[in-house]
Amino acid sequence: MAERKIRSLEDLGISSTILKKLQELGITTVEALAAANAQELSQNLAIPLPTIQKLIGQARDALGLGFRTALEIKKERLNLPKITTGSRNLDTLLGGGVEVKTITELFGEFGSGKTQLCHQLTVNVQLPLEKGGLSKKAVYVDTEGTFRWERVESMARALGMDPDQVMEHIYYNRVVNSDHQMAVVEELKDLIPRENIGLVIVDSITGHFRAEYPGRENLALRQQKLNRHLHQLMSLAELYDVAVVVTNQVMARPDVFYGDPTVAIGGHVLYHAPGIRVQLKKSRGNRRIARIVDAPHLPESEAVFAITEAGIRDPE
Ligand code: GTP
Ligand code: MG
Repeated sequence: MAERKIRSLEDLGISSTILKKLQELGITTVEALAAANAQELSQNLAIPLPTIQKLIGQARDALGLGFRTALEIKKERLNLPKITTGSRNLDTLLGGGVEVKTITELFGEFGSGKTQLCHQLTVNVQLPLEKGGLSKKAVYVDTEGTFRWERVESMARALGMDPDQVMEHIYYNRVVNSDHQMAVVEELKDLIPRENIGLVIVDSITGHFRAEYPGRENLALRQQKLNRHLHQLMSLAELYDVAVVVTNQVMARPDVFYGDPTVAIGGHVLYHAPGIRVQLKKSRGNRRIARIVDAPHLPESEAVFAITEAGIRDPE
């Protein structure tokens, strides 16, 4: 990515009066200003709309959100840092690992390894670049209470990292309902830049939404709420250069004979959203199979990995 000279709102040459007003509204970073709503801001600050639009425009330009050529996009995509999963097979399937600026959805039945992979990524993101990490911290939004620090501890130890330090670099939040879940993600706008976060996990993204909007009759409303949540996560990914990984439990249906019985109900949540969908399936013993679903730029193939004592690895 091109070097960014503008790092803070001060660098945009905004007057201290406006700066202060922006701060009062919680807009403290260039990213937050770039994502602000001009109309609302103009009203709240009692500043003419064209002035606000110009400011927001400057923030967007500073972040490279203006027009770019396709070649620039290609180069940026190819150079995006990736987080290793711990399995070479799985990394290869993903084109090198879990990508920043992208939402990766892990979907599959219970026990398929979604939560284990999330745990592993919170450790691996902290590895230095040359070992497949980002040297950054992680956020774990837990909706089901299945996060285990003990597991993180043993995964860190297996990599020769200091377990306490690794755990100190994982920001954990157990969310109790979908409103809480969305509010927590909103707060990440402050936490991510402040704490040098490189990875945001939401395990699982669908649990609360399914419980609160059950059945077919609520399907449209549920999807609408989920889309808002996904949109939140997508702007985080794009504006703050973080990798976002969400999980989605999909039940197997033994009565489906044609096609893939696990995709049949529930399906993946990223239907129309950009991102990578990875289906996980149980295999023999500790082996799991991963498959990429509708990603034109990645090969249609499968990868086998294992859940071992040390964490996610290639099978023996
Ligand atoms: P749901 O959340 O129920 O949908 O499942 P999931 O896809 O999140 O499954 P999860 O990642 O929890 O995988 C569970 C599997 O991981 C278990 O069946 C175990 O095989 C394995 N596993 C979990 N903890 C450990 C551990 O401490 N050591 C080892 N070796 N394997 C573990
Ligand atoms: Mg799980």
